[in-house]
This record gives sequence, C-alpha cells and structure tokens, in this order.
Amino acid sequence: MSSRGRFITIEGGEGVGKSTNIACVEQCLQERGIRYLKTREPGGTPLAEELRNLLLAPRTEKVCEKTELLLVFAARAQHLEQVIRPALAQGTWVLCDRFTDATYAYQGGGRGLSLATIALLEELVQEGLQPDLTLLLDVDVRTGMARVGKRGGEADRFEREQLVFFEAVRAIYRDRAASNPARFRLVDAGQPLASVQHDIRCAMAEFLERNHG
Ligand code: TMP
Repeated sequence: MSSRGRFITIEGGEGVGKSTNIACVEQCLQERGIRYLKTREPGGTPLAEELRNLLLAPRTEKVCEKTELLLVFAARAQHLEQVIRPALAQGTWVLCDRFTDATYAYQGGGRGLSLATIALLEELVQEGLQPDLTLLLDVDVRTGMARVGKRGGEADRFEREQLVFFEAVRAIYRDRAASNPARFRLVDAGQPLASVQHDIRCAMAEFLERNHG
C-alpha cells in the first residue's frame, strides 16, 4: 500500500445535492479514521478563490469562452500546486467539490469548446494527475434546476444559463462516466436522499476496500 493520499472528486450539474452528499462522503472517511482535506474548484487557495469570484460574478461584459477556460485552469494550477499535490504527497486524502470533469462538462458541453483543447490544458496543468474516484451525482436537468430555483438568493453567472446549456453539461458528464468506468461511480441523485446516500456509502465502501487496508 503506497502512502500517497487518494484523490476523490464529486461532480454533477446544478441542484444535484453536492453539498449534502459531500457530508456523507466525509462521514465515510471519518468512520475509517482517514486524514483528509475538503476543498473545492474553482477555488481552494486565496488566489484561486479570487479567480472563482471573477468567474461566477454576473457581468454585463461578455466573458469569452476561452477566457473562461483559462481562468478555470489558472485557478486549478494554483490549487494543485499549493494544496492538492502537497496533501497527497503527505498521505492526506483530498476530497474535492468539482475538478476537471466539470471543465469538460461546462466549458466543453455547455460552452461548446473543443474537448481536445481542454485535454491540452489538462495535460499542461495536471501532468497526468487524475482523481482516483469520481462520484457523479446525476439527475434530470429540470429537477436540478427546480431545486436551484427554490434556494433563493442571486443566481451566479452559470446558474443563469438555460436548459439547453445544462442538458449539454449533463450529456458530457454522463459520457465521461461511461467511458471511464474504473474511476467513476454514477449515482442517481433523483432518488430520495436516503437512497442516494445509501448508494454513496456503497461506492465508498467498495473504494475503501481497495484503497485503505
Ligand atoms: P459550484 O456551484 O459547484 O460551487 O461550482 C461553481 C460553478 O463553476 C458551477 O456552476 C460550475 C462551474 N465550473 C465550471 O464551469 N468549470 C469548472 O471547471 C469548474 C470546476 C466549475
């Protein structure tokens, strides 16, 4: 067993219940006494959080797709070097709310940027580093959007997008899960919360079986 920490990401479109379900993943890690760090993207360092604010703030100026993509990867480069790589190297597990699958889904699917371009930046910034496990919370887009609508508060720049954008986001997420079955676990987030969390616990138990002696 290597002493390197494991890298777990949680993904999904708007309104899939990431916050609630991340707490469930944390509980699984805590029950096993695993030292972990919870973080998020875009963000996770002071500079990356500033970039997050730039990305999410509604603005009148059109944000060019490539600008958005570069800001996402700028934040990720900072986060990887300052937080994720050092933690993993010290044996700390990293639980990250979104990572590069979100870039394929949002900037690739939603914005229509080429997946090959995203792959180039992914290689530049990650140099081969990939999550060990990705939990994809999946729910039909109308249900997700209705949940977001009930939250209240001001919608950010992504939450203001339309159904067609989120359908494209979901399609890419599902494609990626289907083509990387060893890394992804697809969780049906349209079920009652207790069933969603049961599925998450099962996925975590199976992963921990293989990765934590
Ligand atoms: P959050 O709502 O899960 O905190 O994520 C913030 C938003 O950022 C969400 O709408 C998805 C978007 N996003 C991207 O567009 N590309 C990315 O690579 C990441 C990590 C997030």
